[in-house]
Amino acid sequence: MKSKFTILLIVSVVAIITMSSLSGSINEKKEQKVALSQTPEIDGEKQYKNDEWERYYPRQYSSWLKTKESGEILDLLEAYPQLPILWAGYGFAKDYNAPRGHYYAIQSNTNSLRTGAPVDDKTGPMPTACWTCKSPDVGRLIERDGENEFFTGKWARYGSEIKNSIGCANCHNNVTAELRVNVPHLNRGLQAAGLKTFEESTHQEKRSLVCATCHSEYYFKKTKYTDANGKEQVAKVVTYPWADGLHAEGMEKYYDRVGHTDFVNKISKTPVLKTQHPGYEMHMTGIHGQKGVACADCHMPYTQEGSVKYSDHQLQNPLNTMDRSCMPCHRESEDKLRGIVHQKYVRKTQLHIVAMDNLAKAHLETAKAMEVGATDAELKSVRQEIRTGQWKWDYAVASHGAFFHAPEEVLRNLSLANEHAMQARIQLVGLLAKYGVMNYAAPDFSDKALSQKLAGLDFDKMVDAKLEFKRTLEKEWIRIADANGTYNSKAFPGTDIESAFSKEVNGEQVKR
Ligand code: HEC
Ligand code: HEC
Ligand code: HEC
Ligand code: HEC
Repeated sequence: MKSKFTILLIVSVVAIITMSSLSGSINEKKEQKVALSQTPEIDGEKQYKNDEWERYYPRQYSSWLKTKESGEILDLLEAYPQLPILWAGYGFAKDYNAPRGHYYAIQSNTNSLRTGAPVDDKTGPMPTACWTCKSPDVGRLIERDGENEFFTGKWARYGSEIKNSIGCANCHNNVTAELRVNVPHLNRGLQAAGLKTFEESTHQEKRSLVCATCHSEYYFKKTKYTDANGKEQVAKVVTYPWADGLHAEGMEKYYDRVGHTDFVNKISKTPVLKTQHPGYEMHMTGIHGQKGVACADCHMPYTQEGSVKYSDHQLQNPLNTMDRSCMPCHRESEDKLRGIVHQKYVRKTQLHIVAMDNLAKAHLETAKAMEVGATDAELKSVRQEIRTGQWKWDYAVASHGAFFHAPEEVLRNLSLANEHAMQARIQLVGLLAKYGVMNYAAPDFSDKALSQKLAGLDFDKMVDAKLEFKRTLEKEWIRIADANGTYNSKAFPGTDIESAFSKEVNGEQVKR
């Protein structure tokens, strides 16, 4: 009798607990459903402001906001002092840092010494195209002004219009929240390569293609057109060089075919191609890309919060989220897998540094050959070797994560880069000997200050000009954007001075 009663008691207690927890989760689910079935009223201009999305999608918004946590500046010119030699005569020799969280995209771009110190909307040095992968506002302006018009003029022209950092409207439709791309160049690139457009692609493919809008190789294609006032103009339109294949060889062939050169190296007079960041292309050649794993699978893992499952929008290094990013597919321990990734990094770095050293020496030895009388005709094949070698080296490393995304392709390109650099240097030994120079040793470029000097740069002057710009024109841009209602600067604190030079001024920016 007693035991029957006990069983009955236990059963009913269990039933009560189960039912109450069930109704709790039903209520929670109902709340979720109501929230999600409300059609977001993020219409028109509002959709470009990230803070407007918060009330409809609080979890995605708050995780997106956390990209702020990755704000540290890693000065790559300091880490790799060969770089100012390789990029002498080009903006990257001035300032180049490792990528940070999406929260900072506008600030990184505005603070970079590469974008200079414009004094009004017509002064340079950079074109409007430099905003392209920084903000959802770019889609708004292309729609408003037309694509060619948007890609005409100087970067400063849109300083007060482009303030919202990479966000919701870059990747989502403002009414349905479905994945979308809000700029025309991705589909044009895919079509030139004979691939499916974004809209024709599968859902899983779209989970990578939204990233390919920015994490890809591109150049600014000079495009002639007649503007609304009947004036002849030249636009610099962001274009993917994909028509001859999505690999280093195909893109080099394309650039040679259309006669494109990004800059002429100031030290060696080599016509150089600067790789941007072929992250998507590299990923597609790696094992994860080939097995259909998408960028979002690792960088935006699903997260469970009560009964709600959502995509983590804190885009970051997936080694910080291995339990959710890797473990759904892998059986090894996290430590073991982390060790394998680290090993790939070490292997890449060894060849990476050898390639940069050889390329930098090739530039400096070419300068010596020029100094003692070697002609352009004699240096033609040397410069061709340097151009190809530098392109392959840059292609291998410029997207930052490729040593993991596609390790074989990285090592292949770095080996070829070394081969081309050494071919140039062997020819240079002969050429220098012809002009009576034996055993020439290139000048010391072992730290950033030395190599920026060799590249003819005056660091202090650039910093002073940038700080003046930040005190004046940049403040005006923020004031105008707030007043026009296209930006809400109060919602995004902590985006001001941090840069590779901020530690030099250390809060004394007004004094300088
Ligand atoms: C860089 C591109 C990108 C940005 C920026 C972005 N998202 Fe997403 N978002 C994605 C991807 C990829 C998914 C996964 C979609 C899928 O598989 O259906 C996603 C999923 C979602 C979903 C569907 C539910 C879920 O969590 O899987 C919502 C809602 C959403 N995002 C809202 C936002 C909001 C709000 C913002 C701005 C704060 C934002 N997203 C910014 C790429 C982005
Ligand atoms: C609108 C252009 C754009 C889109 C779309 C975009 N990115 Fe980015 N991404 C950037 C830029 C620019 C940076 C560098 C920001 C900086 O340094 O201030 C960056 C940085 C990153 C970083 C480095 C973050 C860190 O904390 O170090 C990762 C990882 C990343 N992106 C992954 C992705 C993935 C995955 C997607 C697609 C789901 C994506 N991005 C979509 C432009 C974009
Ligand atoms: C299989 C998982 C995985 C996939 C898929 C993946 N990544 Fe990564 N990604 C990583 C890991 C791990 C790292 C970090 C390596 C490191 O630096 O330790 C990384 C690094 C990066 C970085 C450099 C971040 C930095 O601060 O240096 C960027 C940018 C990036 N990935 C973008 C992408 C894009 C874009 C795609 C799709 C085209 C993609 N990733 C696909 C795992 C992945
Ligand atoms: C959606 C599933 C999936 C996810 C998520 C995933 N992987 Fe993989 N990974 C694979 C597949 C599939 C292979 C290919 C090997 C195979 O088929 O067994 C692979 C192979 C690898 C390899 C060996 C290949 C090589 O390049 O040496 C490493 C290392 C690896 N993954 C690390 C990671 C890490 C680290 C993460 C998280 C940041 C991750 N993977 C996330 C599916 C995944």
